[in-house]
Amino acid sequence: MKITVCIGSSCHLKGSRQIVEKLQELIADKNLQDKVDLGGTFCMGDCTNGVNVKIGESKFSLSPKDTEAFFENEVLNQL
Ligand code: FES
Repeated sequence: MKITVCIGSSCHLKGSRQIVEKLQELIADKNLQDKVDLGGTFCMGDCTNGVNVKIGESKFSLSPKDTEAFFENEVLNQL
């Protein structure tokens, strides 16, 4: 599974870095390094809805506090 977090400047200001760090931590906790490929991308052109995170082609709108729920519902449940 490929997860891409927008690290463009608007999403960065809304906490994309915390989201990336939290996801890294959750992936490591569950030992999913070989199942989940976490990456960053520049502006996705949808800054008002940031922080934008994609799983494949599906786009999600997250804030740092939603990261854990997102991980459980959209990542763990889909693996
Ligand atoms: S900076 Fe993330 S969509 Fe523009």
